[in-house]
Amino acid sequence: MPLPLVELHLHLEGTLEPDFILERAAANDIELPWTTLEDLLPRYEFTDLQSFLDLLYTNVEVLRSREDFAEMTRRYLRRAAKAGVKHAEVSFDIQAHIRRGVPMDVVVRGIRDALDASVEEFDITTKLIASFWRDRPVEEAIELLTAMLDAGYAIDAVGLDSAEVGYPPSLFVELYEFARSKGLRAVAHAGEEGPANYVRDALDLLHAERIDHGIRSLEDDDLVQRLVRDQVPLTVCPLSNVRLRTVPALSDHPLPRMLALGINVSVHSDDPSYFGGYIDDNFDAVASTFNLSEEDVGRLTLNAVDSSFLDPEAKARLRSQVRLGNTQGSLVED
Ligand code: ADE
Ligand code: ZN
Repeated sequence: MPLPLVELHLHLEGTLEPDFILERAAANDIELPWTTLEDLLPRYEFTDLQSFLDLLYTNVEVLRSREDFAEMTRRYLRRAAKAGVKHAEVSFDIQAHIRRGVPMDVVVRGIRDALDASVEEFDITTKLIASFWRDRPVEEAIELLTAMLDAGYAIDAVGLDSAEVGYPPSLFVELYEFARSKGLRAVAHAGEEGPANYVRDALDLLHAERIDHGIRSLEDDDLVQRLVRDQVPLTVCPLSNVRLRTVPALSDHPLPRMLALGINVSVHSDDPSYFGGYIDDNFDAVASTFNLSEEDVGRLTLNAVDSSFLDPEAKARLRSQVRLGNTQGSLVED
């Protein structure tokens, strides 16, 4: 039995597969700069975060209807179920859709249609994270979050993503205070391309409960000590880091060092259709590259369970499945 997996760092827009992009473009009569797989696939060669974001936010143009958003989400959940995912906390970027005139209702209701059927259809529990672009004004994020909450959508947490360098967490204090006052949980991308200082600020100023990426934390010994002491969750995405060149190669990835230091690190997929793999592929890649022990793989999974926003009973259920999975064979051996 494979280990049950928990996905905590996944952008729904980053799950659009190339064939689905082209199919939706044709169906919705959208003109993209590429019309064939031969045109599109060579664009998946990234030099940095921005070069990827440019492609990501062009391709989302093909999403127009509520059913498009539902189908994107359903396709992700189907693939996640195949990987053994039992719980997924997924994010979406409302600004990528609002700015091209797609109504909020179409986006969020479409995503929710698929999430609300997920336990029954795929045996996956879910949480939804509304992520905001850090290169847009905080006022815009607050306005959009207010509108989403007023509309009554089930949103569990806020996040912060997109271009990192030059857009420090301090710009978003007001958004996170507002989110907290509404009972939402909080995550934030930090320390992906940006400096370790952004991780500290995301903790101190935004009170983020999880840091997405955070790999550059290792450049700051005091911060590392704090991360270990407080068991701050870092949701790391190894294949993403390679493809966006934040690490030169997978063999240079700091994951084994993070594990050895006792950091609460877990492995996730970020934008799987862009970076060459879903969560199972990320696990397989790090397990074989670093010859991880069963104990290490189990630790990564338990860290994800503990770092999720599930209630204590649901966490306990998943934890016992991980222990059972470990005694019956793990991903490493599959
Ligand atoms: N949006 C989607 N993927 C992202 C990443 N890896 N970093 C920042 N923003 C993102
Ligand atoms: Zn991300």
